[in-house]
Parts: sequence; C-alpha cells; structure tokens
Amino acid sequence: MERDTQDLGDVNEHHEERFQLGEVELAGLQLTQKEHEEGETLSRLSQRPLLSAAFAMEESEFPSSVSLQDMPLFPKWQLPLKLMAVLMLVAFVYTFLRDVLQPYIYHNKSDFYKIPILVLNKVLPWTSITLLALVYLPGVLASLLQLHRGTKYSRFPVCLENWMSLRKQLGLLAFLLACLHAIYSLSYPMRRSYRYKLLNWAYQQVQQKKEDAWIEDDVWRMEIYISLGILGLGVLALLAISSLPSISDTLNWREFQFVQRTLGYTALFLCTAHALVYGWRKWVEQKQYVCYTPPSFILATFLPAMVLLMKTVLAMPCLNRRLDHIRHGWERPGCKGLSDKDSL
Ligand code: HEM
Repeated sequence: MERDTQDLGDVNEHHEERFQLGEVELAGLQLTQKEHEEGETLSRLSQRPLLSAAFAMEESEFPSSVSLQDMPLFPKWQLPLKLMAVLMLVAFVYTFLRDVLQPYIYHNKSDFYKIPILVLNKVLPWTSITLLALVYLPGVLASLLQLHRGTKYSRFPVCLENWMSLRKQLGLLAFLLACLHAIYSLSYPMRRSYRYKLLNWAYQQVQQKKEDAWIEDDVWRMEIYISLGILGLGVLALLAISSLPSISDTLNWREFQFVQRTLGYTALFLCTAHALVYGWRKWVEQKQYVCYTPPSFILATFLPAMVLLMKTVLAMPCLNRRLDHIRHGWERPGCKGLSDKDSL
C-alpha cells in the first residue's frame, strides 16, 4: 500500500513536469490520494487517477506496480460491440449478395459502386433498428416471465439479467448507427451516380414525351418516411442525452424510468414506422423478392415489429392490471419464488 501511494505521487510529479495536467484531473488525483489515506480500496485507487493521467503518459512511465494490461478495456462494451459487428456482417453479406452480386451474375450489371454508400446505408439502419429492438426485448420477456410465474420474487435467468445490464450500451450503439444512417441518407443527392441517374431519367422522360414526372403516391411516401425518420432520430437523441450520468443523476428513479420507457418505445415505434412507410407497397410487389429473398427492410422491421406487438399485448388492461399487481408484490397462490424474496 505504501508503495502504491509513493507510485501515485510519482505519477503526479511526472505529469505536472511534462504536461501540466488540467486542474480537473489534478483535483481528481489529489482527491483519490486523500481517499486512499483514509483507507479506500486499492482497486479504486489504482483506476481513477491513473486513468485521468494515462492519456498523456507513455506505458514505460507508469510505476512498476501498475500493469496496463491488467486493467479491463471497456468490459461493458465488448459484448454489444461484438454483437453489432456480427449483425453488420450478416446485413452486409445479405445486401451485397442481393443488390450487387445477383445483378452482376444474372444481368451482367456492375453495381459495385453501390457498396460504399447504398449497401452501407442498408447495413447501418438494419443493425441500428435491430439493436434498438434488442434494448426493449428483454423488458418484454421479463414481463412475460413474471406473468407466467405469477410473482416478482424469483430471479430472472442469468442471461436475461446480463442482457438487461447491457441495454444502455446497445441503445447508444443503435443511436450512433442511426446518426450515421441519417448522414449517409442526406448525402444521396450529392453523389455523382445520383446526378447521372437523374439526367438519364430526364432524358428518358423527354423521349417518352412526358411533361410531368410527379407521382403523387411516391411523393407522399417519401415525405412521410423521411419525417418519421427525423422524428425517430430526434427522440433517440433525447434518450441518449438522458442516459448521460450528468443528466440521469438529476432525475429521480420514476422520472428516469418514464423517460427511458416512454421515449424509448416512441423512438422504436417511429423508426419502425419509418422503415415500414419506406417499404410502402413494396411488400406485395413480386419484383422486390429477388431470387425469393425478401427486401432488407422486411427483415429489418421484423424484430422491432414483434417487440412492439408484444408490448401492445402486454399493455392490454387484463394483462397490464395483473402485471401491476405482481410488481406491487402480489403473488399467485401456490407459485414458487418466495424463497428468493431477498435476492430481489
Ligand atoms: C434524419 C433521419 C433519417 C433519415 C433522413 C432517413 C432516411 C432514410 C432513407 C433515405 C432510407 C432509404 C434508404 C435506401 O434507399 O436504401 C431509409 C431507410 C431506412 N431507415 Fe432511415 N432515416 C432516418 C432515420 C432513421 C432512424 C432513426 C432509423 C432507426 C434506427 C432508421 C431506419 C431505417 C430502416 C430500417 C430503413 C430501411 C433500410 C432497408 O432498406 O433495409 N432511419 N431511411
């Protein structure tokens, strides 16, 4: 312990000498040293001050008692990031095969230019909306489990508990991908390929002696789905902001629950509606089912639509009332779980 205090002092000295750390970090360092003197645990000590100083230091400058390799690297983010990578890979392979390789093989059409923007802009929203659905799915499953068991005094399965503890990370990743999707979408008219296509369409229209290209149906579809997308992104931004510790600390538990639940389901609804309206009548058009594969927006909206459907069923008065009773401590006669009361 003595040694560690000494080492931390060294860190501070080095740091002041070489980089003149900002006052905030120094204050944090001193505070933690004081806590240490008062008998705080070693682990707490060795994490905070060094983390605040680490960005400006070489690994070799750390005290010998500190090994960077032993410090966990974003432990709460690892699983969500891996999940996001897998989902993106699946979405990419599916979209690539369907939108790029299939036209090349069957029609000798080179659509490889679509990969950087058009393909990616299907992968991003697909993954984003799936992650968003995965934020709300465990809550719905937990409600179903409580209804089934007829008590709140029994533990959820470990995987469900772990899943619930990762919802914030999943939601923030969904938000990040949604932002990227919005930027990609808004960049569509800037692309050279789009300008060429526009010119070609105009030329074809002149050839067909068509004066007006306006299609009322399509205009409405686009106005509505873009508007829903923007609203969805706005609500997601509010959710992300409210999950910041500096904001969430100012809310009481009920306010936080209200914001996360109400805004969360609103965002999920708006984003799902956005993708569904984007699909419009494409659902029933035969040509959309290339090689019998459904378009990506159908696959993307399946899970979110299921979550919303289950939530709607759970919100029905008969089930909602039962759930409310259970959450207030009521138990179905003869149900198991009383022995676990203390664990919740
Ligand atoms: C400023 C906000 C938004 C704009 C401007 C926007 C725009 C678009 C556009 C232009 C498309 C069609 C893409 C294409 O032609 O390939 C689209 C599709 C889609 N968007 Fe958005 N969007 C926004 C927000 C969101 C949000 C927040 C989500 C949910 C996470 C979302 C999910 C989807 C999905 C799932 C599709 C269907 C993609 C597919 O075909 O597989 N969008 N959006």
